[in-house]
Amino acid sequence: MSEIAKLEALEILDSRGNPTLAVTATLSNGVKATAKVPSGASTGKREAVELRDGDKARYGGKGVLNARDHVNGEIQKAVHGFDANNQKVLDKKLCELDGTPNKARLGANAILGVSLAVARASAADHELPLYASLGGESANLIPAPWFNVLNGGSHADSNVDFQEFMISPVGAPRYSEGLRAAAETFHALKTVLHKKGYNTGVGDEGGFAPQLTSNEEPIELILEAIQKAGYKPGKDIVLVLDPATSELFEDGAYVFEKSDKSRKSPEQMVDFWKGLLDRYPEIWAIEDGVAEDDHAGWQHLTKTLGGRIQLIGDDNFVTNPTIFRQGIKDGIANAILIKLNQIGTLTETLECIQIARENGYGAVISHRSGETDDTSIADLAVAAGMGQIKTGSTSRGERIAKYNRFLEIEHELGAKARYAGAIVYERWHKTVKA
Ligand code: PGA
Ligand code: ZN
Repeated sequence: MSEIAKLEALEILDSRGNPTLAVTATLSNGVKATAKVPSGASTGKREAVELRDGDKARYGGKGVLNARDHVNGEIQKAVHGFDANNQKVLDKKLCELDGTPNKARLGANAILGVSLAVARASAADHELPLYASLGGESANLIPAPWFNVLNGGSHADSNVDFQEFMISPVGAPRYSEGLRAAAETFHALKTVLHKKGYNTGVGDEGGFAPQLTSNEEPIELILEAIQKAGYKPGKDIVLVLDPATSELFEDGAYVFEKSDKSRKSPEQMVDFWKGLLDRYPEIWAIEDGVAEDDHAGWQHLTKTLGGRIQLIGDDNFVTNPTIFRQGIKDGIANAILIKLNQIGTLTETLECIQIARENGYGAVISHRSGETDDTSIADLAVAAGMGQIKTGSTSRGERIAKYNRFLEIEHELGAKARYAGAIVYERWHKTVKA
């Protein structure tokens, strides 16, 4: 049995230049591994608490020295000698030690850093890659990625209300070919934007953030880019939107502040999506199509469009098993976005994925807008075998790190590697028609 011998946290920077934690776990036999914690910007209200120092003299209050000290002090003391191969017992102890329902005392950043570092150390101890350590022999499905190539909403200074416009190369024969199709489309999009006189600088997640003029313009530009790159929209490459509508929801209505200034009731919002899908059948998934607090809106959206596309809950479910179970009972969404730091332990994250699987829901593993070079989510996606991930565009090192990790996994698995693109797409269509 390999025991936890030492935990050491360090305050490092994320991809936005904000502090976050790197946690190194050392086992009794000297094996060690490090995990780095991501950080979101458009967060759900019920996410586990990311502990920040609040000392304005350091990083504008965003320092994480208290969370660091919790790892190096109290947490280390409490889990010293724990079996590194028993993730469930470790994570349960971390939750109990914190003692709050949302990890507010020790910090979800401190707790997740420990949870993931120990998982990585355990994999290293068995001389296994993380995906095999978590997913076993059968973990061989490389997910279809969703590349966030165009940004609006609070991620861009433009007249676009919606946050993310993504492409997913579901028609590719293998992951590496899908990645190539996405990168080629990304470059074609740059040319399209450049020709129209738009700025081609990239935002936090590596997508372009030009000053576009309407909510449909990003879709038109992406469709043009897909064709220009030599691919067929709706067949080789499909579209995914994350409008992040919790950001638009004010006093019971959706306000399109950046485009036409319209106000839409929840029913009108759902009608809007219906109209958009009629015009653009290439769209096969919408994340947070209504706001986290709009419970009735979510039910209406699911009833109306749940048989037609994937409806992913992010801000509303916050990767929380209890909230997710209730949401399923209430007939909300048909897929969940999985973000480790929304809940704070690997065990609870895996539980959400399991709930999704048992209830016929999709599960899409996700990065945060603030990231590091940590690639654990790529391995988690292969281990979970749910077939989809979103981790930014085909630019910026912290996004590419994950996409490159899949290339390594694909290479390592050799003939055993399967690509989820067509599998998820076809399974989805069968479900919808059934
Ligand atoms: P976040 O945004 O990581 O900034 O919360 C991503 C999303 O809304 O999916
Ligand atoms: Zn989202």
